[in-house]
Amino acid sequence: LNYNVERERSYILQVLFNGLRRLEYRGYDSAGIAIDSSSPPPKPQCSSDSKFISSPPLVFRQEGNIESLVKSVYKEVDEIELNLKESFSIHAGIAHTRWATHGEPAPRNSHPQTSGPANEFMVVHNGVITNYEVFLLVLVQVLKATLILHGFEFKSETDTEVIPKLAKFVYDKANEAAGDQVVTFSQVVLEVMRHLEGAYALIFKSSYYPNELIACKRGSPLLLGVKELEENKDNGSGFEENKFLSKDGKPKELFLSSDANAVVEHTKKVLVIEDGEVVHIKDGGVSILKYENDMGKPGTFSRASSVRRALSVLEMEVEQINKGHYEHYMQKEIHEQPESLTTTMRGRLIRGGSSKSKSVLLGGLKDHLKTIRRSRRIVFIGCGTSYNAALAARPIFEELSGIPVTMEIASDLLDREGPIYREDTAVFVSQSGETADTLLALQYALENGALCVGVTNTASSAIARNTHCGVHINAGAEIGVASTKAYTSQIVVMAMLSLAIGGDTISTKARREAIIDGLYDLPNKVREVLELDQEMKDLANLLIAEQSLLVFGRGYNYATALEGALKVKEVALMHSEGILAGEMKHGPLALVDESLPIVVIATRDACFSKQQSVIQQLHARRGRLIVLCSEGDAASVCPGKSCRTIEVPQVEDCLQPVINVVPLQLLAYHLTVLRGFNVDQPRNLAKSVTTQ
Ligand code: G6P
Repeated sequence: LNYNVERERSYILQVLFNGLRRLEYRGYDSAGIAIDSSSPPPKPQCSSDSKFISSPPLVFRQEGNIESLVKSVYKEVDEIELNLKESFSIHAGIAHTRWATHGEPAPRNSHPQTSGPANEFMVVHNGVITNYEVFLLVLVQVLKATLILHGFEFKSETDTEVIPKLAKFVYDKANEAAGDQVVTFSQVVLEVMRHLEGAYALIFKSSYYPNELIACKRGSPLLLGVKELEENKDNGSGFEENKFLSKDGKPKELFLSSDANAVVEHTKKVLVIEDGEVVHIKDGGVSILKYENDMGKPGTFSRASSVRRALSVLEMEVEQINKGHYEHYMQKEIHEQPESLTTTMRGRLIRGGSSKSKSVLLGGLKDHLKTIRRSRRIVFIGCGTSYNAALAARPIFEELSGIPVTMEIASDLLDREGPIYREDTAVFVSQSGETADTLLALQYALENGALCVGVTNTASSAIARNTHCGVHINAGAEIGVASTKAYTSQIVVMAMLSLAIGGDTISTKARREAIIDGLYDLPNKVREVLELDQEMKDLANLLIAEQSLLVFGRGYNYATALEGALKVKEVALMHSEGILAGEMKHGPLALVDESLPIVVIATRDACFSKQQSVIQQLHARRGRLIVLCSEGDAASVCPGKSCRTIEVPQVEDCLQPVINVVPLQLLAYHLTVLRGFNVDQPRNLAKSVTTQ
């Protein structure tokens, strides 16, 4: 945050804490904050006097969630009798909520990481520095004496700690060499960046540069929000160095964040920061520098040029990121699926008109459809729930396009360096559009010359920006770590994509039109299936103490089995496995006894009779069956009325996964609440996995 109005520290703390609460779904095992400890003295004559040192900033770090940090800050503030009423004309504070990758959740491993006890440089980091250990070796060999002289002592197990220490080292060396010349904050950071490998979005604060902040990124997301912007009159929407400085003395607030959730309640005007860019906030103004590719020579300051870019306007509303009358985000997101699906399809289904034909319009693809149709193969790539959504759509894709579809879990594709060809179309499915594995798989596919299509829920995400074309799923912000509404919207987008790619051949006309009619009716059918809420709560009550749950599916609903089991595993912390029913006899049957609960998905489609046979075989082994079946089938699917049934509305077979997953989402939700676990922040998980 950067203010050029009088602000009290309590206000600053409040804004930072609220921002962290909005980002908490990205990581929640520890948190930290750095704010200034007293009003900075009057601005020096030369405002970029880098040798000026203000009082050391205060850094608080705490294990646990944001509320633990809030409590500890206020406790400490009381103890050391800090004056919360103290005001600042400009204040630059930073804060962080962590999902541990290097080092256990503990205050010492939380961010901000610092250069030393005097907090000369403080850094918050999203990402992973991959060369930190190697780098330290080099540092120790080459710069050991200097580091010891500077008293560097590593206190954490994090990869991040190397960054502020390197900044301090660079700063000291640069000042020695510069004599009377001023070393700027951005010069220091540009030099630090040159040594870092891996993925990062970083924000630096320094006691050497009071009221300044530097942010930079490579690989991890970062955006800048600008409140009460005075637009550059010359070009209407352009952006130039320091053009955010107000001429009329109006206050400006600037926000840097990993995602829009922490910014949208303050402003909708944002700049999406790109790889290699360095944002310098100083005296209420902003400049953006772009790191040049040659990276300069070691020991010299890296070259960077100024960047101009238009602001974009966020399309989200604050209400989307509130829980409304629901107790949990996951609950809200399950129940808002009729609306999110409607939004996903809005303007994309065409029915009627003079030709009375029915079709699909996906604007983001129109220039590439011909190329996709000529592909030798379509490859679906994703992780977690997004992978499952792609898997659910695979049969309809193959049916309508006639093109072979292969499935790739992003990390596995990278591990194998699996073949991707110029004649392939690679479809990247990702809710966040930032998942590191999927993003790296995208780079790999681009290098191999494939046509790359993005299916994401975040229009400004790296995957959306770096693919050749794509479709935005438009499901609205999803906050619950376990993906629910994004999953159903992804399936619907993939179904629409298959219709668009399939074209309008006469032989598939009836099928296409049935799917389009089915899509129109889908939100209402989801509304109906949500009425199973109480029934699923009752079932959860029965299963509350179980150790394990198996889910059998096949065909269109193999993905539903995987996704249902994933939900139970993720949030209810119960072992659960999705099993391809066709594989039952090749191993899973050994697990079946009278105690293990088994969900069998047996709604009506081409696989129905095979699933009936599976039910018979499980029953013969005294399996404890819960059968998910089509309305009206309860009596007939259950051998000897021995099992429990969940009846769901019947829809077009390829859309049935959207319906069938809902009771399983509800089951996972209620199981979690009844077992007393945190629904929205499941143990050890994070919403957006931006590290490998
Ligand atoms: C994490 C989340 C999952 C998500 C997966 C892929 O594991 O917890 O809910 O399905 O990442 O995320 P993406 O944003 O690429 O869909």
